[in-house]
Amino acid sequence: MALTWTHKDRGEIRVHENLEELSIDLVDYIAEISEASIKEHGAFCIVLSGGSLISFMGKLIEPPYDKIVDWAKWYVFWADERVVAKSHDESNYKLAKDNLLSKVNVFPRHICSINDTVSAEEAATEYEFAIRQMVRTRTVAASDNSDSPRFDLILLGMGSDGHVASLFPNHPALEMKDDWVTFLTDSPKPPPERITFTLPVINSAANVVVVATGESKANAIHLAIDDLPLPETSLSLPARLIHPSNGNLIWFMDKPAGSKLERFKFSE
Ligand code: 6PG
Repeated sequence: MALTWTHKDRGEIRVHENLEELSIDLVDYIAEISEASIKEHGAFCIVLSGGSLISFMGKLIEPPYDKIVDWAKWYVFWADERVVAKSHDESNYKLAKDNLLSKVNVFPRHICSINDTVSAEEAATEYEFAIRQMVRTRTVAASDNSDSPRFDLILLGMGSDGHVASLFPNHPALEMKDDWVTFLTDSPKPPPERITFTLPVINSAANVVVVATGESKANAIHLAIDDLPLPETSLSLPARLIHPSNGNLIWFMDKPAGSKLERFKFSE
């Protein structure tokens, strides 16, 4: 059984016994938000990331989800993408396509991936333009309180340095306020060329999920969730900057990732 609680301003925290339990809880949650979004506005706009996240979504291609999820209403986006060919092993699109999207009935025209034939800057501009068109036609909802899209669900992984999407500690991309999608050519984690959603877009979503597993994430999880002042000399922690302004935030983690949370200090 997961240990679940709501932090006064860091959202809901779910610490799972093991990865199998986390994976079942995650796909249940995705199926639930998919159904609710389709009921509400006729579509489900889901945003993926790379890393191990996609493996935790694997159960979506199995019964009962393969049948109960209304795949035809799904619109799929990426919170960040490496600017490499779609056939490249480092492509987040390829990862999701090979392991999930090619195995379910999402319409190919509903899969909104970047143009992999242009520069990072052009890819970011084109991706933002495509999303703006979809907000105009209301396929993607518009935020009520900001000039941002309101995605139904943004799924993020988190690096051990606390990066989310391709927003890395102390990188200028963290400061972008007006752009929805920006680009990097100096990512500290290879490959260097990437596009990424900006914080205002992530924080305008209806639901944001951060999935973090393994002991290497424990320190970043502790700093992102517990109310600790960060030393002035330390790097900024992107995961700590996730605060949906009018939406829900849920942290899915396993016990090793949650092991440094203040909550557990007192139960040892
Ligand atoms: C990338 C990765 C990266 C990943 C996190 C968490 O673009 O370099 O996609 O951002 O999502 O590092 O990865 P894991 O869940 O695999 O640890």
